[in-house]
Amino acid sequence: MPDELRLAFLGFGNVGRALARLLESKRTSLEANYGMCLRVIGVATGRHGSIIRPEGVNMLQAIETVEEGQPLSSLGTSGPADSLAFLQAVEADALLESIPVNYQTGQPALGCIEAALKRGMHVISANKGPVVHGYQRLTELARQYGVRYLFESAVMDGAPIFSLWREALPAGELKSFRGILNSTTNLILTQMEQGRSYEQALAHAQAIGVAETDPSGDILGWDAAVKVAALVTVLMNMPLTPDRVARRGIDGLSLDHIQAAAHEGKRWKLICSAERTAGHIEARVQPELIDAADPLYTVMGTSSAITFVTDVLPWLTITEGDPGPMTTAYGMLADLVRAAGAL
Ligand SMILES: NC(=O)c1ccc[n+]([C@@H]2O[C@H](COP(=O)([O-])OP(=O)(O)OC[C@H]3O[C@@H](n4cnc5c(N)ncnc54)[C@H](OP(=O)(O)O)[C@@H]3O)[C@@H](O)[C@H]2O)c1
Repeated sequence: MPDELRLAFLGFGNVGRALARLLESKRTSLEANYGMCLRVIGVATGRHGSIIRPEGVNMLQAIETVEEGQPLSSLGTSGPADSLAFLQAVEADALLESIPVNYQTGQPALGCIEAALKRGMHVISANKGPVVHGYQRLTELARQYGVRYLFESAVMDGAPIFSLWREALPAGELKSFRGILNSTTNLILTQMEQGRSYEQALAHAQAIGVAETDPSGDILGWDAAVKVAALVTVLMNMPLTPDRVARRGIDGLSLDHIQAAAHEGKRWKLICSAERTAGHIEARVQPELIDAADPLYTVMGTSSAITFVTDVLPWLTITEGDPGPMTTAYGMLADLVRAAGAL
């Protein structure tokens, strides 16, 4: 008889609902292949209320309810409106956190993750804010309480980055990395290369749900800077906040720049990079003009990629095609399997 794992969702937006769908579709194979028997006993949101049901929440109904704009209380049992009160009330083994990122402080996710770890829950998070503002403290708390704090999806959606270093590259040392980590800007640059204006490209990115209504976090390079800071903090073991990443966005690039580059067989890309030099880290986000010999040249649209330079492998590139909420959900599912000790 497989062990039962009681789950709580904190955040039930694009990622949370994609994860709920993925867990439903993988239910049989998770049980057969990993002995994992899952029961969701709580879901909390910002404006749609929360539900706690120890006998199990019907997740397909919960998805439908939120997608219809109804509160979760319409399913019969409402939980506390406040996230911290929800976490004190729900008796879960693992928390699946996907609430909005706060670049400046990591809150309120940071406090919620801390509360869940202290209640003995594994925490699987898609949120990069707590990684840059609390990685060491949260990891130490998880160790103290005998649980895991995992965040594979926070930087490159479903592509294995953190687990790659933790599990597949033992004793390797990361000297530098260079990548394309922001989907919105890469899609806009791709569209502009195809002749659309910046405004048309941005409108397209918003229409397909890649860019937010206020896209400044992406355009000015903040999202990319937070990702660089998270990678440096975790993979280079050097705590770094986003304000210490030298940052320029794509706001200075015009259609003329992009078409002139294309004419010479080159492309402008928003490049994220960091390099370790004698105990010091140089981290930056900036537009760079690259040619076809660069491994990042063919990374188009919403795709992302990263090249690692290590002391043992001269370089290793990972490219993820067309990420979205479902690939992010997969990163969380993979973390859940790890946290359950099934790998
Ligand atoms: N979208 C992606 O593909 C992707 C990729 C990688 C990482 N991420 C990260 O994943 C997280 C979620 O992204 P998303 O696209 O799913 O966002 P989203 O669609 O805006 O969903 C956010 C969810 O969080 C809820 N929420 C807001 N404040 C809350 C609070 N204080 N307590 C509990 N729930 C709260 C919202 O509830 P209401 O709607 O009821 O207010 C909503 O259910 C973000 O941190 C994002 O950076 C997303």
